[in-house]
Amino acid sequence: MFTVQGIIYVYQLTCCSEAMSDISLEDIRELVDTSRKNNQQKNITGCLVYRSGYFVQLIEGDKTDVKELFHNIDDDIRHENVEVLNESPCQERFFSEWTMGFTDLSQEQNVEKSKFNIEELNTLTSPNPSKFFTTKVFWYNVKQLLENTGFYIEKVQHNSLN
Ligand SMILES: Cc1cc2nc3c(=O)[nH]c(=O)nc-3n(C[C@H](O)[C@H](O)[C@H](O)COP(=O)(O)O)c2cc1C
Repeated sequence: MFTVQGIIYVYQLTCCSEAMSDISLEDIRELVDTSRKNNQQKNITGCLVYRSGYFVQLIEGDKTDVKELFHNIDDDIRHENVEVLNESPCQERFFSEWTMGFTDLSQEQNVEKSKFNIEELNTLTSPNPSKFFTTKVFWYNVKQLLENTGFYIEKVQHNSLN
């Protein structure tokens, strides 16, 4: 977190990638569990979306921690073609209550419950993700979906996050 003229900023980064072809949902759940433990220690919050072989992830927290984590994620052999879609300082966390929310949007019933425009969703989870897709809208829809269906279990235990 850093302060400019009394305003505390948090850093947000959205990236997407192609999962390695033999990854299972169990592997992903394990990855999410470990991420939640690590993120809690670093005051990192965010959300991971999986859809038919592709990941989209938002990480938010202290700029140095976010950059360091992204560096690790980028090097991870469980996925490839990691691309940053958006990164910027922001006044407040979007997933302030989640060390790492998770939803599997390969399951069409999850997509149906959401407000996603399917074409936009397909554009984001594809070999050539659109950088023009408004990531804010995407994460807003994911958050709505999580809140309506209670998919996330893990919330952060501390309550002093900015
Ligand atoms: C799609 C994807 C998302 C990941 N997200 C996180 C994350 O949010 N937090 C985290 O600590 N590790 C995450 N990882 C794992 C990291 O790449 C790396 O394995 C981990 O940070 C190393 O943790 P360790 O030092 O405890 O082994 C992710 C990996 C992948 C493939």
